[in-house]
Amino acid sequence: MSHGPATPLTARPGGPLTGTAHVPGDKSISHRSLILGAMAVGETRITGLLEGQDVLDTAAAMRAFGAQVARDGDAWVVHGAGVGGLMEPEDVIDCGNSGTGVRLLMGAAATHGFSVTYTGDASLRARPMARVTDPLALFGAVAHGRSGGRLPMTLVGAADPVPVRYVTPVASAQVKSAVLLAGLNAPGETVVIEREATRDHSERMLAGFGAQIETRETDEGREITLVGRPELRPQTIAVPRDPSSAAFPVCAALIVPGSDVLVPNIGLNPTRAGLFETLRDMGADLTYENPREEGGEPVADLRARFSPDMKGIEVPPDRAASMIDEYPVLSVVAACAGGTTVMRGVAELRVKECDRIDAMATGLRACGITVRDGDDWWEVDGRGPGGIAGGATVAVHLDHRIAMSFLVAGMAAQAAITVDDAGPIATSFPIFRNLMAGLGATLS
Ligand code: S3P
Repeated sequence: MSHGPATPLTARPGGPLTGTAHVPGDKSISHRSLILGAMAVGETRITGLLEGQDVLDTAAAMRAFGAQVARDGDAWVVHGAGVGGLMEPEDVIDCGNSGTGVRLLMGAAATHGFSVTYTGDASLRARPMARVTDPLALFGAVAHGRSGGRLPMTLVGAADPVPVRYVTPVASAQVKSAVLLAGLNAPGETVVIEREATRDHSERMLAGFGAQIETRETDEGREITLVGRPELRPQTIAVPRDPSSAAFPVCAALIVPGSDVLVPNIGLNPTRAGLFETLRDMGADLTYENPREEGGEPVADLRARFSPDMKGIEVPPDRAASMIDEYPVLSVVAACAGGTTVMRGVAELRVKECDRIDAMATGLRACGITVRDGDDWWEVDGRGPGGIAGGATVAVHLDHRIAMSFLVAGMAAQAAITVDDAGPIATSFPIFRNLMAGLGATLS
């Protein structure tokens, strides 16, 4: 669903950030919980679901595909009809701002013998879909979209799907997951090979739902084999809190003088935790307290304290997939560190909710920071603590993470920073403003 008129928001420099930040549920796991719940026979119960617009749009889509999806007290309950049991939606599926939503749904529906038309907001309609429709064509699905493989797009599902072996040409968990979800309703073994490891929530959750799925390391990369047409068993799922949302209070605490913030219960799955490793490499005072395992995932409470001595580093390019959503807010921390931070191997940032390198580079320059960029790299010259001049209004291009990154920057800058539209924040972190204000941030 598209949001209403733009709502500017300003962050002003102020006192320290202190206290405990309970961030919302993981967006990736929330989408997958709803989709897999709808493909299992019986009742799946989900607690901690992210109630952001992206996930609510996926919930509405699963209803349109014939599943019952409802909130029941603190939980969400999904009644599915089983693998192969999705029904033809009566209307266009509007995924709003969510690339994950539309790409996973395309995969899940592609091996059903009906057609679905997908659309989204202006940001999503500009994003490339061929990366999923190319492999889905191998199953027998046919896509009719706008030029450049963009939405709105109709995907004619394969009535008699064949299993697929696919080497992903881009490091993308969405592409991998679309192929695996399509493979659920194809007979035989579907195989996906990824050269670089991307977030593995689909693999872990498919196994949890009872699918036969195996991952092994080969010379080609990680090879994931899924046996099609399983009977998925409904699950009780406790969604962990989102490390990508935790990134914002953590990074704000590191750069606002005097801050000390605890962010409890954050999943530290190695395919997601790259930012925190990078911050520690830069010299951040970021500790993992009470490390434990929950639901088969490593979890800890993150404690971030103001870190005046951080140094710019070259971020290892092989870490990119594990922190792909966190580069915007990392660039804000980099601006407050000493020396230059170099980020390479990040071409994917140019096809996110917006061109994130361009959006951050433009906004940071307007705030007095030197940024150099090329097709798949960028560098930020840090000016040390308090080094962001601010005093600018920046464009967020319908991108929640650009909006939150510049608001974090404003909390540590010399003068206020305004984002032209805070509306997109509701896609992934609807409580962002109240949560940051509760820590002491000045947002108005
Ligand atoms: C996601 C995968 C990533 C990430 C997105 C969520 C997922 O996208 O940026 O926010 O849940 O699979 P790509 O697959 O395009 O890298």
